Amino acid sequence: MKSFMTQGAKILSTGSAVPDYSLSNNQISEIVQTSDEWIVTRTGIKERRLLTGVNQSIVDLAVLASIKALDKISMNPSEIDLIILATSTPNDLFGSASQVQSKIGAINAVAFDLTAACSGFVLGIVTASQFLQNGSYRNILVIGADTLSKWIDWSDRSTCILFGDAAGATIIQACSKENNSILNFQLNTDGHYANYLSILYDHKNAFNPFLNLYQGAFRYLSMNGKEVYKFAVSQVPLSILKCINSLNISIHDIDWLLLHQANERILTAVAEKLSINTSKIISNLSKYGNTSAASIPLALDEALQTKKISNNDIIVVSGFGAGLTWGTVIIKWNEF
Ligand code: ACO
Repeated sequence: MKSFMTQGAKILSTGSAVPDYSLSNNQISEIVQTSDEWIVTRTGIKERRLLTGVNQSIVDLAVLASIKALDKISMNPSEIDLIILATSTPNDLFGSASQVQSKIGAINAVAFDLTAACSGFVLGIVTASQFLQNGSYRNILVIGADTLSKWIDWSDRSTCILFGDAAGATIIQACSKENNSILNFQLNTDGHYANYLSILYDHKNAFNPFLNLYQGAFRYLSMNGKEVYKFAVSQVPLSILKCINSLNISIHDIDWLLLHQANERILTAVAEKLSINTSKIISNLSKYGNTSAASIPLALDEALQTKKISNNDIIVVSGFGAGLTWGTVIIKWNEF
């Protein structure tokens, strides 16, 4: 990573939103052949929130999370220069960020979607920090939001137990270099294994013989769980090590490990591989499942609300998922 930093960037505020409807493991066992015991043992998940009904979309969750983040610091939405919405489940293939921009009244903000599955929020933070650290913008709203419940085959017990819907938002602001709190990042992609986790476009639904044109729709999420597990447990520790080594800090300097909330066993295995005490893991997936791009900002917001994180704490944040994509960003917490 080359740095062209003319100023620093720091997280000013966070907010999050989850749907009201909660689905327990026992309720899932009425839909597919599974049990609370199997799901808890293999994943650590006890329940998840689902966006039900027809009148709500990912935009509503993203707007709610964003308004909470803005209200916490009494920031007028017109002060936001850029909105990055990390999502793989937009309600419009052209993007949902502009709808968020309009609904929160961020009249001066440029807005775009960023698609990188469960790594989306990490990529969003890194993208935002570039615009801030090179002096282009002052205030950026980064949202991670996903509603994977819309893309799950609810008769497939190997995937339907895992995912939930949520949104998390952070406001990142430019600051002096001395107060910079986005310390370093390390990002990766390996498209060879894209088929391990995908929501593929299927063009065999409709054929127009006059134009020789196929049109179709997206399939349900498909996943090779074992391979995704092996990938996460082998690659995430390497990314973290590269990131801390190039920053010249040691494992002992890490106060919190905030990983994408995919599976409790993955969180524990990554911590153990790095010899990080498991008490340093931030985890809330038992309540929400895997909420994809929302999982990290949702867990961060909750950890701040419960006052887990203190001033000057070093937080190692890693995302991983479809693509395959994975990466780490290191944050030094500066209280807002
Ligand atoms: N309930 C009961 N039995 C089940 C269930 C279920 N929900 N799902 C699978 N099984 C069965 C299988 O059929 C299999 O039975 P068999 O031995 O008779 O064939 C047995 O349980 C073991 O199945 P495995 O797939 O080997 O189970 P595993 O221990 O690997 O756990 C899991 C599966 C939880 C999915 C695990 O592989 C995992 O967590 N992988 C990582 C997935 C992940 O994190 N994905 C998200 C990545 S982030 C993103 O980008 C979205």
